[in-house]
Formats: sequence, C-alpha cells, structure tokens
Amino acid sequence: MISLLNSPLARLGLAILSCIVFVHVWILPSSQLHQKPPQFQLVISHYNENLFKVKEWITAVREMPFVKELGSTVTVYTKNKHANLDQIKELLDAADVIRLPNVGREQGTYMHHINKTYDHIYPYTMFSQAAITGLNDTGNASRPFKDWLDKSLRYKFTNETKFFNLQHGGNPIFCVCGSCPTGYFPLLPQLQTLFDNKVCDSTDKQSISWLGQFIVAKEKVIARPRWIYEYIGSLVDAPEGHWIHQEQEPADLKQALGESLPDNPLFGHTVERIWPTLFNCSKEPEMQGCMGSWSPMPGQKKKDGKLGELSV
Ligand SMILES: *[C@@H]1O[C@H](CO)[C@@H](O)[C@H](O)[C@H]1NC(C)=O
Ligand SMILES: *[C@@H]1O[C@H](CO)[C@@H](O)[C@H](O)[C@H]1NC(C)=O
Ligand SMILES: *[C@@H]1O[C@H](CO)[C@@H](O)[C@H](O)[C@H]1NC(C)=O
Ligand SMILES: *[C@@H]1O[C@H](CO)[C@@H](O)[C@H](O)[C@H]1NC(C)=O
Ligand SMILES: *[C@@H]1O[C@H](CO)[C@@H](O)[C@H](O)[C@H]1NC(C)=O
Repeated sequence: MISLLNSPLARLGLAILSCIVFVHVWILPSSQLHQKPPQFQLVISHYNENLFKVKEWITAVREMPFVKELGSTVTVYTKNKHANLDQIKELLDAADVIRLPNVGREQGTYMHHINKTYDHIYPYTMFSQAAITGLNDTGNASRPFKDWLDKSLRYKFTNETKFFNLQHGGNPIFCVCGSCPTGYFPLLPQLQTLFDNKVCDSTDKQSISWLGQFIVAKEKVIARPRWIYEYIGSLVDAPEGHWIHQEQEPADLKQALGESLPDNPLFGHTVERIWPTLFNCSKEPEMQGCMGSWSPMPGQKKKDGKLGELSV
C-alpha cells in the first residue's frame, strides 16, 4: 500500500476517487434535496420572430429577482413548419420546443397548452407571443423594453399575483357584455355565460386582455374545468368551412382581416380578450384580488399612501 501510494499516478487516482465519492455522498443528495422544481413556466408562441430578440427579453424576464427565486423553465410552441426546433431549443435555453399546425394563432396555442398540461400546470405561467410589445418588431416600438419590464412586470408580479394582464401595465380596459372600445364581440358574453352559469349583466363591465401576454397562477387555471380550454381551443383552431369563420363581428376587424381563415381566425380576437373573464378576474372587486398588493415603482404611491422602495 505504502509503495503503491508512492507512485504519483496512484495518488492522483486516489484523489480523483475521493472527489467522486465526496460528490456522490455529500453534494448530490443535498442539492437534490434543496433544489425545488421550477415554479414559473414561460410559454412562448413563435411563428417567425427574430430569435435573438426573443432571447433578449426572455433572459431579462428570467433574471428578474422574483422569477429567479421561483426558478423558471421555457416552453416554445412554433407554428412555423420551417423552424429548426433544435436551434430554437439551444438558443432560447428552452426545455421543450413543440411544433403545432399553423391554425388558431397564439390563442389556440395557449388553449392547447393548458388543455395538455392541466393536471400539472406550473404555479405560475407567463404566456407571450415571441415578440413582446416594446421590442422593435411589433407593437409600440417607441416604448423601450426596459420601460415595459419595469412598469409592467418587475414591480407588479409578486407571490400574491393570481392573474396579471401584461398590457397596459396591468391597468384594465373594459367592455360591457361584448361592447368594447374596438367594436362589438358577440361571442364574448356567450363564452362568459359558459363559465359563469348566468347571462351577462349589462349594467356591469368586464376588463379584457389584449395581445396575448399575461401571467396566471395555477389556482385560477384549474378553477375552470379542462373541457372549457379544450372547447375554446377547438373553436379557435377550427378548420376551413367551420361556422365560426362565418361570424361577421366585430365588423371593422372583419373588414380589415378579410376572410376569417384557420391560420388567422376572426374568433382569435375574441379569445384574445376573454382571459380575465375566464380566470374570474374581470370585475371589481375580484380584479384587485387577482393583482395582489403589488409594490409600486420607486417614488410612486402605494394604495396605503406610502412610497414604493427600490427593493427589487
Ligand atoms: C386535451 O387534453 C386531453 C388530455 O391530455 C387529450 O386527451 C385531448 O386530446 C386534448 N384535446 C386536444 C384538442 O388537444
Ligand atoms: C430598436 O432598434 C434600434 C435601432 O436599430 C436599436 O438601437 C435598439 O436597441 C432597438 N431596441 C430594441 C428594444 O430592440
Ligand atoms: C408608446 O409608448 C410610449 C412610451 O411608453 C407612450 O408614451 C405612448 O403613449 C405609447 N403609444 C401607444 C400607442 O401605446
Ligand atoms: C410573499 O412574500 C412575502 C415576503 O417576500 C411573505 O412575507 C409572504 O408570506 C408571501 N406570501 C405568500 C402568499 O407566500
Ligand atoms: C369569482 O371570484 C369571487 C371572488 O373571489 C368568488 O366569490 C366567486 O365565487 C368566483 N366565481 C366563480 C364562478 O368562480
């Protein structure tokens, strides 16, 4: 033994062996014990957006302190039949990249995702189109990304958030039983009736979502039965010739869109607006409960009149 250890090679071998034993006995079990599975899933609906820009905002979101604390994972759905799934996976550091048929736009993707993962949906899911408003290739290009991140997300997404409409910094836009600032959406109140077991009260108003960017907590998703997501998904993904493509309202959108087609269905614009109602967050006072008591931007006043602190 002594003569064996005199050989440098043997000593090196012994050192390596003890390292391996140490890692297996001490480090692996304790880190496995302490590492919680990620609590935040980012679900991206991709078509042909610039992946480098997508990477930029995804990285910024994943590096936010609260998201870091939760632990995050990325799932990308692409409806582009030419997209290279491996390349997307690597570049965006995604756990999964899944190709779907090009129907139903991002709204169909979200319904598909919820239906498929209903039994094991994450504590928080952030849904987004691959291009976020604020980046140059879509929406309000004059709004810097950092501004969007700070005003909409960093200070408002907390452990009390149940549903967070990322557009308008969480400030609501209202419709009254389908009458919205951008036209009349007759299927909005019909869908609401489906969830709430009552007809829409026209003395009330409902906040709507827009552009398909929101965060939702698991409890709000599973408060509705799975079949609702599957059913709406089947309507927004409907094939050519389905009655849903014959809908004429809202008239202005229909005119702008031309024909409603499976890859760009008019009904997608109704679904885009339904999420707060679907998650029972569209009315006062539930709306407040859904947002939680978010901490305002530094210098802005909280509900209790105190100033927000620069703590995040
Ligand atoms: C919805 O999910 C269920 C369970 O995973 C599955 O059997 C069904 O095919 C899904 N529906 C659609 C339209 O994908
Ligand atoms: C938008 O484009 C300008 C000019 O190309 C560039 O300087 C800026 O960084 C871009 N902003 C974002 C958020 O991509
Ligand atoms: C675009 O963003 C800028 C800066 O945040 C804001 O002042 C402006 O009102 C926005 N425009 C639209 C059309 O939303
Ligand atoms: C949220 O976080 C705060 C402090 O970070 C903690 O005091 C509170 O108990 C948490 N609430 C929930 C519902 O986990
Ligand atoms: C919606 O939320 C409110 C307040 O949390 C609750 O009282 C009501 O029962 C919920 N409605 C449905 C249909 O889940």
